[in-house]
Amino acid sequence: MNLGLKMLFGVLILAVSCQTREQLNTSIVIESKTAVDSVTGLVIDKNFELVRGQCTACHSAKLVTQNSASREGWEQMIRWMQRDQGLWDLGENEVLILDYLSLHYGPKKKGRRTPLTTIDWYYLQE
Ligand code: HEC
Repeated sequence: MNLGLKMLFGVLILAVSCQTREQLNTSIVIESKTAVDSVTGLVIDKNFELVRGQCTACHSAKLVTQNSASREGWEQMIRWMQRDQGLWDLGENEVLILDYLSLHYGPKKKGRRTPLTTIDWYYLQE
């Protein structure tokens, strides 16, 4: 390989590694960017205004932020509110609202259960 070719490869490898570095940085920034509305406590994204408008009319947004469910779970809650609590038809907004809810208030990741703290241990009698 002549020197020119070697330098060319060197530059290429540098370029590729710089790019992956940059991609890594961007994904970290996106994750740490999750902003929360100081009034409602709802996560702010492109559907935030919609959810704030539709889901805080009857009750506190805390009912939303303190809950977590799958998309199906959220849909069932919406159906229940529509059946029993006077929630209106959300129309084509429903898809966007479900996107928002399942993205930010999806099922909690299950780790190990927390250790039990209130056990009365006792010795087995022979
Ligand atoms: C028309 C009124 C109304 C609107 C609008 C409304 N809800 Fe509700 N929602 C209720 C009522 C009433 C309850 C029961 C409150 C209670 O138990 O104190 C409730 C309860 C809830 C609960 C608690 C359910 C549970 O199992 O405890 C969640 C979560 C919830 N709503 C989410 C939402 C979301 C998300 C939206 C937006 C799509 C929304 N609500 C819009 C009336 C409404």
